Amino acid sequence: MLRNSQRTIAWTAVTLTVLLITVGGLVTNTDSGLACPDWPTCFGTPFPKLVGGVLMEHGHRYLATGVGFLTVLLVLAAQLDRPRSLVLPLLFAMPLILGGSTWAGIAKHHTGAVPPLATALVLAGYALGFVSMIRERGGARLAQGALLLVITQGLLGGVTVMYQLPPTILVLHLATSILFLGVLVWFAVRADPSADDATTQTPRDGSLSGLARIWLPVSALAIYLQIVLGAAVRHTGAGLVCIEWLCRGVLWPTNVHPAVHLHMAHRALAILVGLIVIATAAIVRFLALRANDRVGAGLAIAMAILVVVQIALGIATIATIKDIWAVTAHLFVAALLFSVCVALTARMPRSASTVAA
Ligand code: HEM
Repeated sequence: MLRNSQRTIAWTAVTLTVLLITVGGLVTNTDSGLACPDWPTCFGTPFPKLVGGVLMEHGHRYLATGVGFLTVLLVLAAQLDRPRSLVLPLLFAMPLILGGSTWAGIAKHHTGAVPPLATALVLAGYALGFVSMIRERGGARLAQGALLLVITQGLLGGVTVMYQLPPTILVLHLATSILFLGVLVWFAVRADPSADDATTQTPRDGSLSGLARIWLPVSALAIYLQIVLGAAVRHTGAGLVCIEWLCRGVLWPTNVHPAVHLHMAHRALAILVGLIVIATAAIVRFLALRANDRVGAGLAIAMAILVVVQIALGIATIATIKDIWAVTAHLFVAALLFSVCVALTARMPRSASTVAA
């Protein structure tokens, strides 16, 4: 019963987060970032008419609020598994982080500088939150990690506005949101009793399952790095520095602006990610079919298809000179691909020692 509610909350949060990330991309693509002149209200009301840019910008805020709320709910639901554990450090951490950052934001707006004490409060809050998280185990630790990440995401959003959209913060913003999504997916899968069956019943011996145990996390990491690199391409304006198949007639041009190297690195890593993900999917599908794990086999084929679609969408992004549908779909499928890979990694057979524990 408890696990059921945890799973429902986690999967709802996963769905909303994928939507939130996609709508976040749309806010930028439609130039709607400043459609609401005020915050947290929009034109003085929390319920403005949701049309045009306001639909994007305020809709994004609604979604973000929903995700934040679900994450707090997840922490509470996960904590019920650990009735004797003290969440006191976490309770102190939240006001320190939120209070310190609000103070910093107001001071920066009025005086142009952030008071050192406000920064110290935020850091102290993070230290406490971190201590609270590592004292926990299993789902409770994951849920608290997710809460810290979602708060960080909010702070990065604020810093983005305060410092007028610096590329590093924008890249970090996407990197944190994808990490947060990964933690939620991991939680949701581990809260599913059928995942226990998959992780303990799938044959654990043999070199193939050993390979899967190595290559699934490697795939997840490779996809993650490619996503962060993609965000760097986007936010440094390197998306269209090469629009031909062969950039300036060669495989990788030399003596060019660093933006061209960034762009080429994203293309090259896409090929590597594609190969790793497809090979991993083939191994995992083979193992899953052998263990009669239909969900695992389905997820493996989905992962292979998604990586091919993602590469095609990357090409479409350039070929259409960044048509809004192509760029948005490229971000949406990136989030889906990473989620599927993390889900497969979380369902992976655990080592004999972990299962015994
Ligand atoms: C596994 C493969 C890939 C992944 C996971 C991936 C992921 C991403 C992500 C997450 C972004 C940032 C999107 C945003 O913030 O809205 C991005 C941007 C971009 N990607 Fe990819 N990508 C992949 C393959 C490719 C390929 C094969 C190409 C082209 C040959 C490509 C071209 C681009 C371009 C041009 C941008 C910048 C778009 C802009 O400036 O708005 N991507 N990618």
